[in-house]
Order: sequence, then C-alpha cells, then structure tokens
Amino acid sequence: MVFAAIQNTGTGSVASPPRHPQDLRADIERLRRERNAVILAHYYQDDAIQDVADFIGDSLELARKAASTDADVIVFCGVHFMAETAKILNPTKTVLLPDLAAGCSLADACPADAFAAFRAEHPEHIAVSYINCSAAVKAHSDLICTSSNAVDLVKQLPADRPILFGPDENLGRWVQAQSGRELTLWPGSCQVHVAFSEQALLQLKLEHPEAEVLAHPECQQHLLDLADFIGSTSKLLHRAEASPAQSFIVLTEPGILHQMRLKVPGKPFFEVPGADGCSCNACPYMRLNTLEKLWLCLRDMAPAIEMDEALRQRALAPIQRMLEMSR
Ligand code: 13P
Ligand code: SF4
Repeated sequence: MVFAAIQNTGTGSVASPPRHPQDLRADIERLRRERNAVILAHYYQDDAIQDVADFIGDSLELARKAASTDADVIVFCGVHFMAETAKILNPTKTVLLPDLAAGCSLADACPADAFAAFRAEHPEHIAVSYINCSAAVKAHSDLICTSSNAVDLVKQLPADRPILFGPDENLGRWVQAQSGRELTLWPGSCQVHVAFSEQALLQLKLEHPEAEVLAHPECQQHLLDLADFIGSTSKLLHRAEASPAQSFIVLTEPGILHQMRLKVPGKPFFEVPGADGCSCNACPYMRLNTLEKLWLCLRDMAPAIEMDEALRQRALAPIQRMLEMSR
C-alpha cells in the first residue's frame, strides 16, 4: 500500500527510495534535517535502522526520550504501542511509524473491553499494565510499567492493596518472584519469547559451558531457570558490557545482538533459535519496518499515529505515574 502511494504523490520529488544503501542513508539524513525529526529505534529493529537512528533504547528509555525531545517529528522505529505512547506524550507532534501494521502479539492478546471486564471483577485491585498494550488498555490501568522498572514499581505499591498485572503472564510471574508481591495475572504472552527452544538452549550451554545466559523476563519460567542474568533489553546489553564472561547466549529477539557485538567486540554472542530451528525468535512485527519505509514515512509524513483526545488523556495519567515513580 505504501509503495503504491509512491506512484501518485505528484510532488516532483524522486518517485522511489534511492537504491544504493549509502544514498538511501544520506537521503534519510537530509529528510530528517528538513523535517526537524528525531529517529528513535528499539533494539529489535534491523541493524540498518539502528545504524541511522538518533537514539536506540528499551521501551522505558524510548518513552523517556519521546517525553523530552524538542524535535517536531518523532519517527518511531518500533511497534505500534511504542509509537502510540510517544503520541500520548506528545499530542502536538507528528509521530510516524514506518509500517502501521507493526503490532505486537501481547497487545493483541489483551482487548480493551475484556481487560475492562477483568478489572471490574477485581474492584479493590491496583491495575498495573505492561507498556506492551493498546492506549485503550492503558486508559483502564492505574500504572504502566516496562520490563526495566516493573519490579521496582510493584515494590512501591501499598502493601495492603491487591494487584492485577497484564498482559504478559511470564513477566508477571517473574515480577511476582522478584518483588514478593502476589499478582493476579492476565493470561497473555509474547509469541517470540515463548518460541525459544529449551533443547537448543541446553545444546548451546553444552557447547559453550563458559557462556553466560542472558534472558528477557518475557521468556517462560523453565528457560528463565536456566539464565544467569534476567532483565530488559537495555539491562541485558549493560550486563554484557560489564560481565567478565567470555561469551554469551542471548534469550531475546536477536536484533539486540547488533549493539552487543558493537559494544563488546571480540566476544561471541549466540542467539537461541525457536523450536525446530525456526527463525520465529525474530519479532515479525518489529521486522516490518525497513530502511525504505523509514525514508518513505519521512518523505510523506505518513503513516502518522492519530488518537482521540479523551482517550489520550486517560492513557496519559498511568504513563505519567510510571515516569514519576521510576525517576
Ligand atoms: P524492553 O522493555 O526490554 O524494551 O522489551 C520490549 C519488548 O517488546 C520485549 O519483547
Ligand atoms: Fe510484542 Fe513480543 Fe514483538 Fe516485543 S517481541 S514487540 S512483546 S511480539
């Protein structure tokens, strides 16, 4: 659809993205300056996108960056809930997502009406939602968290109040164990983080007994039990930089390996495949964004995130609470 629009712009600008990667990168840089845009990228983006981004981070860092930027345009190279969060924080800015179809299986597993009913069944509970959810679910939540701050935020909640946690039950179980608080969990999971093969992980551990295993808390418990360090994407990267280990086995989306290899040169990083060796450890939503679509969205200033103002205000309150509590 986006490429079909190229034929019809009639703007007099070049009809299609420059073919040579070097020219494409140079033209993205030109458009970024002309638009006064900032390019934010999650660690799960393709290497080529990470290489042109102004800032690469985990969900919390990207939300903070979106809250503090003075650019007129935010190009969010990530998935829809991330770009939506940037729009909630910046209603007057243009927020672009290179491919509007870049969703998230976790967010999809939690429809807002079903979440509202879940909440209504537990009126005494504080509703804590992982940032991987729609604006409508955020609007039904008391507090948003990310994988980076979830344990810390849950620990800060009043001890006499019960807590609902959604939409990731694997993250929720880990937060429960780390915080010592009992959580009532929404039954959702990430299709990528439940796809890792335990057999492949055990084989890698046999082949590289010296390797440290780094895991994202969205992984299932039986895999987290085999990990040496658990944390958000940024925390995994920082651990790789600080660790004395000579090699690493990484249990999260392999896009993060690009920064790990750049920041820790000379040490091998091994990704864990999905069951039957499939490449389902790569997030199909994140990988919808490409350098060409990034160029196109900057040229056309579309697709942009639009949101109803009343919904935005309701979704903003629990995000602001998170930003204040995780300072
Ligand atoms: P982070 O909070 O580590 O950025 O993770 C986001 C995500 O979508 C993991 O699948
Ligand atoms: Fe969503 Fe999983 Fe992709 Fe993260 S990796 S964006 S949780 S589908």
